[in-house]
Parts: sequence; C-alpha cells; structure tokens
Amino acid sequence: MTKVYAAITAVNGYVPDYVLTNHELETMVETNDEWILSRTGIKERRIQKGDGLATSDLAVPAVQGLLKKRGINAEEIDLIIFCTTTPDMFFPATAIVLANKIGAVNAWGYDLNAACSGFLFGLQTGAQFIEAGKHKKVLVVGGDKMSSIINYNDRTTCIIFGDGCGAALLEPNTEGFGIIDSVLKSDGTGGAHLYQKAGGSLHPPTHQTIDNKEHYLHQEGQAVFKFAVTNMANVAAEVMENNNLVADDVAWLVPHQANKRIIDATANRCGITPNKVMINIERFGNTTNGTIPLCLWELEGKLKKGDNLILAAFGGGFTWGAMYLKWAY
Ligand code: UT7
Repeated sequence: MTKVYAAITAVNGYVPDYVLTNHELETMVETNDEWILSRTGIKERRIQKGDGLATSDLAVPAVQGLLKKRGINAEEIDLIIFCTTTPDMFFPATAIVLANKIGAVNAWGYDLNAACSGFLFGLQTGAQFIEAGKHKKVLVVGGDKMSSIINYNDRTTCIIFGDGCGAALLEPNTEGFGIIDSVLKSDGTGGAHLYQKAGGSLHPPTHQTIDNKEHYLHQEGQAVFKFAVTNMANVAAEVMENNNLVADDVAWLVPHQANKRIIDATANRCGITPNKVMINIERFGNTTNGTIPLCLWELEGKLKKGDNLILAAFGGGFTWGAMYLKWAY
C-alpha cells in the first residue's frame, strides 16, 4: 500500500502593525539597544494594540489568507489544532473561537499547549489524522499574544517576546512529500524555570496573585538558555542522523526564534551554514507558538518542491523537538 504522508500545502502568517522597538523599550525599562541586540538578536517586535482583541484575532487574517492562497473555503477544514500559550480564554478553546470567526462550520478543534514547541507538537499531532486517513484537511495554527502575559517593568522578559501568528494546512500526499519524521521531547523538571504561576487551578486569581505579579510570564533566562542551547541543537542533529541526512542534504533549518545565539548553536551543531538558516527574530522577537509558522510564511517564496527542511524548537515545560519534512510544493 502506498504510504500517506501529511504534507504542508499552504502557509500564511500575520503580525500586528504596532512595532515596539528596542529604543522604545529603553524608555520603559533600564536597557539599551546594544545589550538587547547582542544578547538576543532582536531589534523590534510586534504588539497587538486595541481593546477586545486576542490571540484568535491574530489567527483570523493568517488563516483567511491561507485559505485564499490554497483556493479553498473554511467549510472544507476537518480539524483545527490551535497551538497557543495565550488562549483567548481558558475555555472555550481558541480553536473553536477561531472556527466560529472564520466559518469553519464542519471542523472540530482543540488547543494544544506545549509553549514554544507547540507548533511542532501540533504538526505531528495533526499529521496522525492525515496519515491514518481520518481527515483530509487539518489546519495547524501557532500563535500568541505574548504581550498579554508580559510584565513591561521586567527587563529580563519584556525585551524578548512579541505577538504574531502563523498557520499551515496539512493534506495527504502519496508521492513521498510531507512530514517524514520527528523527535519530540519533554522534561517537567524544567517547569521551575519558565512559567506563568497564577490563573490556573493551582493558584486561582486573587488580589494577592495580582499584587505579586504572578499572572505574568516568569523566566530564569540563564537556566533556560543552558538547557535550550544544548537540547535544541542535539535534537535537530538527532532527527538528521535518524534519517541519514548530512548538512548538504538540508535546504533550510527553520528554528524557533528565542535567541539568535541558540539558533547559531543549533546551526553549528548540524553543520548548516548561515545562508540556509531561516531567521526573522530581529523583526518579530519570540512569538512563542508563532515563530516557526511565521518563518515558513516568510520563507515560502524561496522553497522548492522536494526541499528537505529541519524544524527545531525549544520551550517552557521544558518541551523541545525537531522535525524533518520534505516540502510538497
Ligand atoms: O522561547 C522559550 C525559551 N526561552 C529561551 O530560550 C530564552 C533563553 N534565555 C535567553 O535567551 C537569555 O538568557 C536572555 C536573553 C533571557 C538573557 O541573556 P543572558 O546573556 O543570559 O543574560 P543574563 O540573564 O546572564 O544577564 C546578564 C546581565 C545581568 O547583569 P549582571 O548581574 O551581570 O550585572 C542582568 O541583570 O545583564 C543584565 N540584564 C540586562 N541588561 C540590560 C538582564 N536583562 C537586561 C536588559 N538590559 N534587558
């Protein structure tokens, strides 16, 4: 029997208009452009401004653009997996909110939370439904309104994160294109270093949790950096080795955009030269679940059918992983 692969058949992205530059951050916290750029590679990030707007509103234009590109309408989508760490609300799932906003009346859906590795976890999860023959069109969305959980008085985190969303459509492919393999991992001991403490069932919101600023993202940067820089690199190398790929076989490395130094270390470990590494961190910062689909969206014009791509991510949890896919169009 011919093997069915889950192939990405369209990608699209959306970032809000407002540009928060390093220079503006200099007026908000004690920092400077040189420090941010040299330590992270970030020059600016996008912020969703305006009342009544949430993560799903970043997804609507991303997905509507994707449907237009692919020439299909929302009724044709079977399943929406919304990878996010900043859902519109705890429930209903943002996937369902999105389905309603775009008119995906025949889709079921759910949210997936694996922090910055979410989009990779979502792609692999969505692929199962395609490979099993259960569904023909699975929409995997990765997006976050990180500004909703960032403390703009905390210089160690507010310089890093931004808002944005990307989406990919998975469809069956019997010609050997699509998601070939992945290595996905998690380690709960990392939870102590990157988290949002309050708001869940462990620490429901109280005046005290608000006074203590426990609804904001908390990150111990160095501890996360040390783990990320080794593990994201190792897992990318592992998926290449498992599939007998050497650097020359890889057309593009598409890494999570958390820190330019982590990206460079991953590329070095895999022997992939800088001209084959997708980077947009300088313009968008770390959009958590949005980074990889936003990269694919910006890279789309350069991709050729049959290109070997290595996707790699690292995030809170800890979660991390890498994926090997053969571009299908
Ligand atoms: O995407 C999810 C996973 N997250 C990541 O992968 C992020 C991993 N971590 C990182 O990217 C880096 O650790 C950071 C960018 C967060 C921080 O960079 P660092 O090189 O690890 O800096 P550091 O925390 O070691 O701080 C060095 C110094 C400290 O001052 P002292 O103690 O040496 O006097 C900080 O207080 O830099 C200071 N500092 C700042 N200075 C200017 C920290 N933040 C800033 C700032 N501007 N914004």
